[in-house]
Amino acid sequence: MTVNVVLGISGGIAAYKAPDLVRRLRERGADVQIVMTASAEEFVTSTALQAVSGRPIRSNLWDKEAEAAMSHIELARWADVVLIAPSTAEVMARIVSGGAPDLLTTICLATEAPIALAPAMNHVMWSNPATQANRQVLEERGIHILGPGIGSQACGETGSGRMLEPDVIAAQVVALIGGKGEGLLQGRKVVVTAGPTREAIDPVRYITNRSSGKMGYAMASAASTQGAEVTLVSGPVNLPEPPGVTVVQVESAEDMYTATHDAIGDTDIFIAAAAVADYRPAAVVQQKIKKNDEAMRLELVRCPDILASVAALDAAPFTVGFAAETENVTDYARGKLAKKKLDLIVANRVGRDCGFDRDDNAATVLWNNGEKQFPTASKTELAHDLLELIAEHFYAMRGSETQPKLTVISSND
Ligand code: C5P
Repeated sequence: MTVNVVLGISGGIAAYKAPDLVRRLRERGADVQIVMTASAEEFVTSTALQAVSGRPIRSNLWDKEAEAAMSHIELARWADVVLIAPSTAEVMARIVSGGAPDLLTTICLATEAPIALAPAMNHVMWSNPATQANRQVLEERGIHILGPGIGSQACGETGSGRMLEPDVIAAQVVALIGGKGEGLLQGRKVVVTAGPTREAIDPVRYITNRSSGKMGYAMASAASTQGAEVTLVSGPVNLPEPPGVTVVQVESAEDMYTATHDAIGDTDIFIAAAAVADYRPAAVVQQKIKKNDEAMRLELVRCPDILASVAALDAAPFTVGFAAETENVTDYARGKLAKKKLDLIVANRVGRDCGFDRDDNAATVLWNNGEKQFPTASKTELAHDLLELIAEHFYAMRGSETQPKLTVISSND
């Protein structure tokens, strides 16, 4: 399937990666029309971009000849997706304001196609409240924000704001519009649980935890990007649904258990990233509990262990657990790997400065006779790397089946 991509390139140093991004998009069957902003030309030449895209570069809204060949409105209609990579803070602000001072922002206003931005900027600029407010508005309008990644930056500093690697962007954009491409999990069924659960005490109160769901959503998104048919069973979170993924919303651990078993059928891989409550109130009080005494007792009973129950099925899928711990991380995780009879477990430290409700994470993956460390990275990039390892172990276990060509996804330069 050919996918028409309008690739907007704005003026950030990450524009030097644009020729590689064009190549990656074309490898996945995309026809790429580049639209550069004036400042992008300071970082990458239109000659190089024209050579890799095979199409004349567009940059000027007032270029009569180019407009006669394909007007900005025709370009906006031609696009199956508009991708801006790198997207500067300035371009984000221009799109939020709804202005159309140049060709790229005019196309964004005129297109009905999905729009995705891969931000790239200094980490202080990215965390600036103005940029974060713009990110939120863009997401609320349905614009997809890809990344950014975390790591060393061109300015010599380290932090969040690095553009995601071209292959990760290409894979996400193709998945966004339903073209799965040549993914590592092509044709496989994956079920992921994510987020916290809520255990009702009475009609207005519940017990929950600090899980944001970001890691599970990133895992679901990465699996979809790699061609899998993904069902995401999600507790209550404040995140946009990943494109191309079937999302089943649940509240309690019991609901998550039922929804997971309903979805599991002929699933190949089960990834339990949810922070499921261990205990729930023994009974839900029907009316709001009034405060009378100085103290009150709440009787709690164990919730079902979803992961262990899936791993115990006769035809269990390849099962991957997560272990969020505040201490003895790998020891506890190894214990769970054995006790719950898992194929892999992803162990990570949680606490004040790590793990829950953050955009980054580090992890150690453990299996029967081995382990692998994953250094701190954005949850998007970590999810892609984890998925590669999961796929490798999955195919190693199902030895007789042919493993598709590995889609190389790297989070490092
Ligand atoms: O036992 P613990 O909660 O630490 O195990 C964590 C792993 O088990 C995670 O993968 C989590 O999603 C899963 N789990 C589950 N159902 C529960 C508790 C944990 O699926 N009730």
